[in-house]
Amino acid sequence: MGKRESVGVALLGAGTVGAGVAQTLADRADALARYGGRPLRLVGVLVRDTAKPRAGLQQDVRLTSDPTALPAADDVDIVIEAMGGEQPALSCIQSALRAGKHVVTANKLVMALHGPELIALAAERGVTLAFEASVGGGIPTIGPLVRDLAGNRITAVNAVINGTTNYMLTRMAREAASYEDALAEAQRNGYAEPDPTDDVDGKDAAYKLAILSTLAFRCTVREPDVYREGIRGLDAADFEYARELGYVIKLLATSRLRDGAVQARVHPAFLPERHPLAKVDGVYNAVELEGDLVGWTMLQGPGAGASPTTSAIVGDVLAIVRASATGSALSGYPDVRERVSILPVTDLETKYYLRLRAYDKPGVMAQITGVLGEMGVSLASIIQKEVPEDAGTPAEVVIITHKARESAVQEAVRKLEALAVVYGAPKLVRIEDGSA
Ligand code: NAP
Ligand code: HSE
Repeated sequence: MGKRESVGVALLGAGTVGAGVAQTLADRADALARYGGRPLRLVGVLVRDTAKPRAGLQQDVRLTSDPTALPAADDVDIVIEAMGGEQPALSCIQSALRAGKHVVTANKLVMALHGPELIALAAERGVTLAFEASVGGGIPTIGPLVRDLAGNRITAVNAVINGTTNYMLTRMAREAASYEDALAEAQRNGYAEPDPTDDVDGKDAAYKLAILSTLAFRCTVREPDVYREGIRGLDAADFEYARELGYVIKLLATSRLRDGAVQARVHPAFLPERHPLAKVDGVYNAVELEGDLVGWTMLQGPGAGASPTTSAIVGDVLAIVRASATGSALSGYPDVRERVSILPVTDLETKYYLRLRAYDKPGVMAQITGVLGEMGVSLASIIQKEVPEDAGTPAEVVIITHKARESAVQEAVRKLEALAVVYGAPKLVRIEDGSA
């Protein structure tokens, strides 16, 4: 970083997150200058639409829609990338690093697909690429993994790391809100991605789990390595059954390192009410880590929104400015380019919730339990709700299994769906009660 009196900052993106950052740089200018040792000066902002009014920007800030204008500009020392998407964000980050600029990004997609190479590029250029805001909003997750817990061998990550879906699931379970209303509220609150299908289909959580797993296990885990299911298939009845059975439904992101191989998955899960992640509600997120020295630890806080994300970004900026005062880049991002074997979800062994609709005729239950028995899936409990005898409507059957192998359970579901007495596709949700 140059020896100018102030630190030149370029902000790529001035939406929910970028506007929060710009506002904080303006509102807290004196306090940030005192902490960093030099004032931070916002020199340029990249947006798509330069005609849109932008509150809080000084007159002399260059507003541009040209993605090449700011990353390598002479008066820029730190580039903050808060635009999202793969391109042009990736090219902007690469140009900035190649030009010797430090980069702070909130972009989990870019970090989940290109993180290891970008970390290596930053190291090669002697600059910092910091990305605390890419996972868990305001919760410090990256810093603890690469610094405070660096002496551990981390073997497991369990997390609720999407604020939008956690907010939606909480509203749907507690207040019987509809899926559509809950999503619209999350969007109004600034939690959702520009394309909210990334949230509800589990992609955002998969990006974040790839980043956490890469840093935790010190090897490359990319988003396509993460098995993924979203929350669209859940309905009011699933929340009622979960409650009746003593569970809470969460979009769980979980990864394990066993014998040099990683299994990583994101999907809805039934968690016992007493499970620490079951108590993480609304926009809150939490990350549980298991390390050989620390044992079990959990990091928790607001997982999305302008202010928490600004907190993470400004923290990264200040750490870079303070490190540069001693002439160094911020240390602590390990080389994580080594590849690792990825285990398929079919290797999983856990308990399952199966919900299906079957015509209420003699012998039906025997057929259902027969299929499960044939596949070696043993049953812990069955609930069948009574329907009027003459209604001709299918009865709802809910089955909780003992621990079983996912490959066998999936095959059983295919066979159940093929039975003439079963109506529609059975629904399957994994139960994670810590016994797997
Ligand atoms: P957003 O509200 O949609 O803002 C995106 C900003 O980037 C807008 O100012 C947009 O310009 C600009 N932009 C996007 N594509 C551009 C392009 N091709 N050229 C020029 N400008 C472009 O998104 P956001 O919620 O702030 O999220 C930004 C990033 O932060 C994403 O990577 C997201 O995953 C991450 N993040 C978000 C949150 C959160 O709670 N929202 C939390 C953590 C991380 P216009 O204003 O002209 O449209
Ligand atoms: N859309 C993301 C979420 C933003 O809801 O968690 C924070 O990364």
